[in-house]
Amino acid sequence: MPTILITGCSSGFGLEIARHFASREWDVVATMRAPRVDVLPTSERVRVLPLDVTSADSIAEVVEAAGPIDALVNNAGIGFLNALEGTPIEAARHILETNTLGTIAMMQAVLPQMRERRDGVVVNVTSSVTYRPLPLLSVYTASKAAVNAFSDSVALELEPFNVRVRVVLPGRAPTTRFGENARAAMTGGFPEPYQPLVEQVMAGWQQDTGPTTSSGDVADAVWQAVTDVSTPMHLPAGADAVAWSQGA
Ligand SMILES: NC(=O)c1ccc[n+]([C@@H]2O[C@H](COP(=O)([O-])OP(=O)(O)OC[C@H]3O[C@@H](n4cnc5c(N)ncnc54)[C@H](OP(=O)(O)O)[C@@H]3O)[C@@H](O)[C@H]2O)c1
Repeated sequence: MPTILITGCSSGFGLEIARHFASREWDVVATMRAPRVDVLPTSERVRVLPLDVTSADSIAEVVEAAGPIDALVNNAGIGFLNALEGTPIEAARHILETNTLGTIAMMQAVLPQMRERRDGVVVNVTSSVTYRPLPLLSVYTASKAAVNAFSDSVALELEPFNVRVRVVLPGRAPTTRFGENARAAMTGGFPEPYQPLVEQVMAGWQQDTGPTTSSGDVADAVWQAVTDVSTPMHLPAGADAVAWSQGA
């Protein structure tokens, strides 16, 4: 059976992607910063391993322990919601370190075996905010837009080795811990001059009754990206993301 390694499986999309592949006869290496076995079905096919994508040692250990990897899903990520003026540079570094460099470092660790085997697929999970930017998410958007552009370029250099790279861009998923974590990550609150904008943005989100994205939508999109070679380079996941990708 092929093996998939997924980052950030403790909750949200990563957990659903792990369940999705496990139920379809894949061997799943579900990675988490603090491993919890209780969230996934007990199965010989599912291994839960520790991984912090900001740690070179942690990455090296998990890749060694995982053995041959046919598919890598870079899903781990953190959100951050604030005006740029309310964003300490350490917070910006941490977001880029996790969302952007974490993805790059994971690919560097896994690619040699895929290139040698001349087979493999990497799916990078970014965000539909890169289709239609929103205020207060500038650093987060930058961290994900960088992965989009990085993926486009590295996909070309890996084509001769039959290693595919795809990007899945989810829409807004109010059901994951993501929004909560993004707000919790704010340090020192919003700067006072931006308060009216913050209230306007928050009210807009609360009143928004339009389509959102479920973890199932993202798992379906990742499944398509991994198993169907004709999947486009960038694949929106969720009805809102699809609409945004079409310029709505
Ligand atoms: N939810 C949305 O609205 C939305 C929309 C578009 C894109 N996305 C993207 O989708 C991905 C998954 O988000 P989600 O909604 O499922 O959020 P989530 O429930 O907060 O899950 C994020 C996962 O990333 C993990 N993580 C954070 N920092 C890590 C690190 N340094 N090393 C390893 N794992 C780390 C978290 O692990 P811990 O439990 O250890 O914190 C968690 O498992 C993220 O890349 C996010 O940017 C989310």
